[in-house]
Amino acid sequence: MPRENAPRSASSRPPSSTVWRDLACVVVVTAIVAALCVSFDVSELAYRWTRRAERFQLDELPATLLMLALGLAWFAWRRWRELQRELVRRHALEKEAERLLDDNRRLVVQANDAQERERRHLARELHDELGQYLNAISLDGARIRDLSAQRDAETHRLALNVVSSATHVYRQIGTMIRRLRPTGLDELGLATAIEHCVDGWRERLPDATFSLAIEGDFGGLSDRLNITLYRLVQEGLTNVSKFARASRVEIYLVRAPRDAVDGRDEPEMREETRDAGGVDEIVVTMADDGPGVDLAAPRAGLGLIGMRERVEALGGEFRIASEPGNGFMFCARVPAHAGLAEPVAVN
Ligand SMILES: Nc1ncnc2c1ncn2[C@@H]1O[C@H](COP(=O)(O)OP(=O)(O)OP(=O)(O)O)[C@@H](O)[C@H]1O
Ligand SMILES: [Mg+2]
Repeated sequence: MPRENAPRSASSRPPSSTVWRDLACVVVVTAIVAALCVSFDVSELAYRWTRRAERFQLDELPATLLMLALGLAWFAWRRWRELQRELVRRHALEKEAERLLDDNRRLVVQANDAQERERRHLARELHDELGQYLNAISLDGARIRDLSAQRDAETHRLALNVVSSATHVYRQIGTMIRRLRPTGLDELGLATAIEHCVDGWRERLPDATFSLAIEGDFGGLSDRLNITLYRLVQEGLTNVSKFARASRVEIYLVRAPRDAVDGRDEPEMREETRDAGGVDEIVVTMADDGPGVDLAAPRAGLGLIGMRERVEALGGEFRIASEPGNGFMFCARVPAHAGLAEPVAVN
């Protein structure tokens, strides 16, 4: 925003009570000094003293000091004006930064929506196109295998290979489809989808121990929030598989009134969120006792950044905690009504 058009904000001016108080101080101090001057005849004393030092021009001192006082007052006034202008400029910059942050959040939401739409589309295509053809190849291979069983050993062996390769690829594609579009998220709900996801990791990581606790009712959440919570758990578990394979992992998914979760519940916020469908908050926490990481060291990956962006785009908070040798933990809290106002297009 150009400086000239910057609004003059009330917060950048000193409150009027302070101005009046300061002015009253100046008047009172001046009156006291005047009274003291009168009772001690200060002017006469100064005149007598400076007259004796006239050859040093000290008798000009009062006028010089008066000029200095006026000059300092002018100097202070100029600095105060500059400060006011600087405050207004900063206020305008803060507003601009807030606006940009808001735009950024909206862009993240849109990018995530587009990504999820694209993933759904890919999952559907993989399932409907590739899946069907692979199934057909597998069935044809099985037929050739059966027909060649007693006749041609080489054809039989090749048919067995075809069936096993087709089955392998079919399974891989199934895994890809489930990663692209979580099993049951739409039909069975968030809690079941997360249980399913954790079960998958239990099988894949036999050295790790997983405990999952889900508390509260997760019905009525927006599609955006559902997929965000699911993706948090998914990325958290992928990280466990990469950096803490043999650890004990605890996952909590809780829906509770905001003040019950941490005792914070500002009255205005309570009003706003109640109108928007409740003051509940969803909290996802995942902690492992693996090797941890030094959070002060630079990190290259994008997973944690994506998690933070997703959560903050929905008006939530995302925190991580870790120390080398002391495990890793993340905690995300998002208002339960997040994303309800703007329904997401699913196709
Ligand atoms: N559970 C964990 N235990 C120990 N370190 C972790 C854990 N999760 C994340 N980290 C550390 O945090 C870093 C950043 O994680 P992040 O998920 O952002 O990136 P990544 O997994 O390395 O790559 P990407 O997710 O982009 O494929 C990791 O490189 C790792 O050092
Ligand atoms: Mg990662």
